[in-house]
Amino acid sequence: MNILGIESTCDETGVAIVKDGVHVVKNFLASSADLQARFGGVIPEVAAREQVKVIVPLISKAVENDIDHIDAIAVSYGPGLIGSLLVGVESAKALAFAWNKKLIAVNHLVGHVYASWLDADIYPEFPLIGLVVSGGHTDLVLMKDHGDFELLGSTLDDAAGEAFDKVAKKLGLGYPGGPKIEQAAKKVVANNNFDFPKSLVRKQNFDFSFSGVKTSVANFVDNNLEVDRDKIAFEFQRAVVDVLVLKTIAAAKHYDARTIVAGGGVAANSVLKTMMEKDGLQINAKVFFPKKIFAVDNGAMIAAAAFFTKSYVGPLSLVADPGLHF
Ligand code: KG4
Ligand code: ZN
Repeated sequence: MNILGIESTCDETGVAIVKDGVHVVKNFLASSADLQARFGGVIPEVAAREQVKVIVPLISKAVENDIDHIDAIAVSYGPGLIGSLLVGVESAKALAFAWNKKLIAVNHLVGHVYASWLDADIYPEFPLIGLVVSGGHTDLVLMKDHGDFELLGSTLDDAAGEAFDKVAKKLGLGYPGGPKIEQAAKKVVANNNFDFPKSLVRKQNFDFSFSGVKTSVANFVDNNLEVDRDKIAFEFQRAVVDVLVLKTIAAAKHYDARTIVAGGGVAANSVLKTMMEKDGLQINAKVFFPKKIFAVDNGAMIAAAAFFTKSYVGPLSLVADPGLHF
């Protein structure tokens, strides 16, 4: 089954064709990140205007004038920025109606979990613990089967990616902050004589909080102007990664999970992947991270999630939902 997946929840526009939920046939992405970098973050109006320009050319490129080989159209209908969501959702609805194809509605967060199935050699097994870490979300979920999600915990304030972006801005590293912090931290080999707080690690729950570490870094920068920015990036990254790993492993242990599946832009972070794999070994849980191109927002993960969840909707009834959650 070939599914055309459409993603436009934030500043990326992704269009892909995925066969049977796992084999990526085509995958195209247009990002307005360079444009957003000029403003130091995403301006919703700018993102949506760029998406209006690129969505049809991207779909044409993927479909190549042959709609017969497309079995269904999938679109992420939330959560996200309403202007951006409307571009993807209304395009998908119009095409499903005009081409007489089935339409599948996908929760963007569910898409991030299914990114680990894409072009993989082996697939995650249930029960699994999913960690979705992106610019807008930090969620831990328990999955007992395909499409079966139980939310275990979330961030109480900033998302992990948001903290990366804000700290990078404070350190003058640019946007998007995650990759910039990771690059800066790579230059640091030794441990430093300072560290940053790890919130909620002693609490017996699966919630997160990242606004404390963000504020702590900001104060530290203001009071220690002479300290090397790369070292600050290193210690910030360590604090965030430690908390993400600790809470995820605790959840996997608690629910006797066979696998751990990470997704979302922050799952592109190599230090997070290495640490999670190391600690996953200790509890016999196999750890899955998507290929980097599928960690950040993309259309392929939406097509994958659509295949495994098959939430069919009428093309005329789907409504974008900016506040959608697990
Ligand atoms: O999933 P995503 O592409 O969009 C949202 O749904 O939000 O995630 C974007 C977020 C940004 O905050 C970005 O800074 C972060 O993912 N990110 C990273 C890395 N690459 C992207 N964070 C840490 N390390 C990275 N290598
Ligand atoms: Zn995302």
